Amino acid sequence: MELKRFGVSLEGDILKSLDELVAKQGFPNRSQAIRHLVKGSLVADKVDSNKTVAGAVVIVYDHHKRELNNNLMNVQHDYHDLILSTQHVHLEHDLCLETIAVKGKARKLLELADKIIALKGIKHGKLVMTDL
Ligand code: NI
Repeated sequence: MELKRFGVSLEGDILKSLDELVAKQGFPNRSQAIRHLVKGSLVADKVDSNKTVAGAVVIVYDHHKRELNNNLMNVQHDYHDLILSTQHVHLEHDLCLETIAVKGKARKLLELADKIIALKGIKHGKLVMTDL
């Protein structure tokens, strides 16, 4: 897509905060930081208005926990229309990392992620969403 240039006027302290963000997160320039901030806001808006978004649920769990594998499979089958793919990595002897790529109405994705992350035995989980 063609890049457009525009002038931005900011108070000194806000510009300083922007430059600190650029440095802290390692953005190559202010434009990339602003792009990131605008995108984040657009995604939040789409989530609020329940638009179609895509993303991933990332979970870490102990596969020895009784019933967890079954419960995890059941939830994923209940929401199969939202799930694009599932990648399973055996991290350590006990630990598994699963990345579940999802696409659908934002509220359904939140519902699915909540159900997965709440399962007994899940150590940590997070849903990341982006707009299309
Ligand atoms: Ni595993």
